[in-house]
Amino acid sequence: GQGGQKFIGSLQFGYNTGVINAPEQKLRAFFNNTWMERYAEPIKPGTCTIVWSLSVAIFSVGGMVGSFSVGVMADRFGRKLSMFLVNILAVFGGLLMGFSTICSSYEMVIAGRLVIGLFCGLFTGLTPMYVGELSPTPLRGAFGTLHQLGVVIGILVAQIFGLESLLGSDKLWPLLLALTVIPAVLQCILLPFCPESPRFLLINQNKEEQARKALVRLRGTEDVSKDMQEMKEESSKMAMEKKVTILELFRTAAYRQPLLIAVMLHLSQQLSGINAVFYYSTGIFESAGVTQPIYATIGAGAVNTVFTVVSLFLVERVGRRTLHLVGLAGMAISGYSSLSYLSIGAVFLFVAMFEMGPGPIPWFIVAELFSQGPRPAAIAVAGCCNWTANFLVGVSFPKLEELCGPYVFIIFMILLIFFFIFTFIKVPETKGKTFDEIAREFGGAPPPPTTSVEAPPTSSSVTLPASPIKEKV
Ligand code: GLC
Repeated sequence: GQGGQKFIGSLQFGYNTGVINAPEQKLRAFFNNTWMERYAEPIKPGTCTIVWSLSVAIFSVGGMVGSFSVGVMADRFGRKLSMFLVNILAVFGGLLMGFSTICSSYEMVIAGRLVIGLFCGLFTGLTPMYVGELSPTPLRGAFGTLHQLGVVIGILVAQIFGLESLLGSDKLWPLLLALTVIPAVLQCILLPFCPESPRFLLINQNKEEQARKALVRLRGTEDVSKDMQEMKEESSKMAMEKKVTILELFRTAAYRQPLLIAVMLHLSQQLSGINAVFYYSTGIFESAGVTQPIYATIGAGAVNTVFTVVSLFLVERVGRRTLHLVGLAGMAISGYSSLSYLSIGAVFLFVAMFEMGPGPIPWFIVAELFSQGPRPAAIAVAGCCNWTANFLVGVSFPKLEELCGPYVFIIFMILLIFFFIFTFIKVPETKGKTFDEIAREFGGAPPPPTTSVEAPPTSSSVTLPASPIKEKV
């Protein structure tokens, strides 16, 4: 169903994040060959590095645009048609990259990475939003971490397929990049057989009869009155909390705190430098003198997966705040220990600490920090900040590394310490709390009806949409 399809989106995001790492030398050779064919001279090393980092980082430019347009798309086209269009993007992008060598065009690699980025950006908004809305409160963090688990499995699969003996060879690397087409085509074929989301039909489009029919198909029984009733209640609640645009999100004082926290958590995820590892580790290990760098890269992917599972089990016990703090501190320390030379162990520790908190938590916590009305806008803004920072790291890392050598990780260390202090001072615990309780802690929703003696509303909370609880009184 919808959940499974979103999980495939997480896998695809991971796959395309990790896929470019192993075949770096093949791609550089291809750029050189194309250059020779066109200009009858070898490509300059500097130019080659630019084309290479562009192929890596333009993925995030697509992600910026995609994550930002997520709300508009789902509302305009409906869930089902959106899914179809999003998958078409993946097919198109994958084919561009797959045919790049046949057409002798490195531009096609770059264009393909851009389109694939768009596709991934859309999913990094869609998945956490749905998972957040559908999970029961005590398991919201664990379900949210499933998105990240999809991502890390995707990365690991890409690293393994990237082995020279599999698809990472001189001849087959275009196929490695194009493989993302297969799940996308499968989804396109299967989608016409899936019913439109009954929630979308009833709540967004007010088509009661069609919603009922979709439900009957989904549940396999005629008696769907209980589900219908539930959705109608949800719908009337939603009508009371009106949708907040991105502009209103910035203008409303009561959203300022949670928005700052959401954006900073996403920045801490990317500016930790994690994707320096997942985009470029093979090159990093190679210059550190590791003889089989690709196996070290796969090792990093395995550690990455194991620690995401660890976090999955800890997040509802230890809480988001503590795990995020532990992760940031651990990353800063391992960054320090890798200063002398980039040892495999230091990189593994760096990755492990990342998945304790900074990996999974930012993706799902934004849905927790905002109620139904402002949630889509907040997810779009936070996601776009994430992808922007992702782009900055991706595009600048090869140059920075050329300039500072292993000391490049000092930059990330300083940032990590800064984000640790911010998290310590500002980020509240959201574990086990309902959306209403969280909003109330920020002063974002009126106090519960029984305690009306609380502080008078400030000018900011007056402008807020009333909470469903108060309306019922
Ligand atoms: C997170 C990040 C992504 C990174 C991945 C590594 O999902 O958003 O950019 O590549 O973790 O596991």
